[in-house]
Amino acid sequence: MDDVSLNNQQRRTFLGVLLAGITAVLGAVFAWPVFRFLAPREQTGASALVRIARKEIPVGAAHFFNFQGRPAVVLQPAPGSFVALTAVCTHLGCIVKWVDDKGEFLCPCHGGRFSAEGKVLGGPPPQPLEAYVVTLEENDLVVGRAV
Ligand code: FES
Repeated sequence: MDDVSLNNQQRRTFLGVLLAGITAVLGAVFAWPVFRFLAPREQTGASALVRIARKEIPVGAAHFFNFQGRPAVVLQPAPGSFVALTAVCTHLGCIVKWVDDKGEFLCPCHGGRFSAEGKVLGGPPPQPLEAYVVTLEENDLVVGRAV
């Protein structure tokens, strides 16, 4: 084998390795955001609790907040009775709204309706809204893990 064909073979090998390296780097750059999006969110014990002042939730009103990175809502349907739910519709994931005069949740996307306890009243949602544990500690409500 002469020097010219050896150099050509070395050049092809070098270009192949270089192309494989660039492809691997580009694949990692594009795959990382997809992986982060699909990876489950971290849920740890004490840091997963949310404390809300009781006075912010009058009877019949809903208070929306962020729970573990997702929209949630707490309301007081009857005096001294509190309910905490996810605000994410179980149909296709839209955020539900509280309708004061009807005393129910309405999903603006496809008209799904939920009771104040999260039960499906109508529309396409297949399941009730996920409920969270809510406890009263002095003048605060503490919202915790899913029930
Ligand atoms: S996303 Fe709520 S009814 Fe479709």
